[in-house]
Amino acid sequence: MQPPAQAPLHGPLHPLIRPRRLRSTPALRRLVAETRIHPADLILPMFIREGATEAQPITSMPGVVQHSFDSFKVALDQAAAAGIGGVMLFGVPEKKDAVGSGAVDPNGILNVATRVAVEAVGDALVVQTDLCLDEFTDHGHCGVLDVTSRPGTVIIDNDATLAVYREMALAQANAGSQLLGLSGMMDGQVAAVRDALDGNGFSDIAVLAYSAKYASAFYGPFREAVQSSLVGNRRSYQLDPGNRREGLREVELDIAEGADIVMVKPAMSYLDVLADTAAISSVPVWAYQVSGEYSMIEAAAANGWIDRERAVYESVLSIRRAGADAVLTYFAVELARSLNAGAL
Ligand code: PBG
Repeated sequence: MQPPAQAPLHGPLHPLIRPRRLRSTPALRRLVAETRIHPADLILPMFIREGATEAQPITSMPGVVQHSFDSFKVALDQAAAAGIGGVMLFGVPEKKDAVGSGAVDPNGILNVATRVAVEAVGDALVVQTDLCLDEFTDHGHCGVLDVTSRPGTVIIDNDATLAVYREMALAQANAGSQLLGLSGMMDGQVAAVRDALDGNGFSDIAVLAYSAKYASAFYGPFREAVQSSLVGNRRSYQLDPGNRREGLREVELDIAEGADIVMVKPAMSYLDVLADTAAISSVPVWAYQVSGEYSMIEAAAANGWIDRERAVYESVLSIRRAGADAVLTYFAVELARSLNAGAL
């Protein structure tokens, strides 16, 4: 709005429009806040290590551990008490093989941990499981390898992997997982898993599609967390970090295949992809603040370079602002506690 020419007091030195008015008191700022975080919007990723008798620290993720069953149960109770929305479980098996047998074994670490979690906190939290082969394969890839087509070249066999994912989905559903997190980036994985679930009496089990999952350097610390045996990279299945339109294409495909929830991952370097997804999605949109994002904040805070609590809050808030309905974050329980205490 232009000030009238005959009103000199409203000239450039005396603005008519004063957005600062709404920032003038804490109560006003609170009332006009556009984005809020509720503990129920947060999901905690957890690692359970087969054979561990006590929690093992993960050097590159200070404060995050590979759980033993004892420490796992304590942490589950703490998560439920903090009122977060759910937990996403990852297994760290003792033995791996070429086809990831531990993933489909009812007694595999992830499936056993799922039963434990459902029994302990299944009413309070949505118990979710990572559906991918990388923790279970000795080569560390998210699928099974095609070793015959071009010997000497690592090829991930998409359709053979789908057959294993279907079995893995049934093992996880049988263990009581309520939401399967499909993180392997194989084509057609959502339709394949949906079909397997529906054909076996599990039409009520939901599918979370890691739809726009990028081949990111920010997964670095996670590789230590799950003791990944990966040599090489995942660029033949995960997205090129520069591709925004292709991220949206994956989201559209997953919704068409029947995904109940779609996800963008990592979060902070992909807020544009997240905003694009939120603009078109007819299903809930989640984002994963991954291991490297966690570790960067921890490292800077440990050096006294940033205010840890504010940085944690702002980072998750920005992910919500960009369009995530819920956020997977290693800060989930701590952040929920701060929110509950009214500290933020
Ligand atoms: C695959 C999977 C990965 C992460 C979650 N699911 C690793 C990868 O794709 O390389 C990374 C999570 C993180 O970095 O926190 N099972």
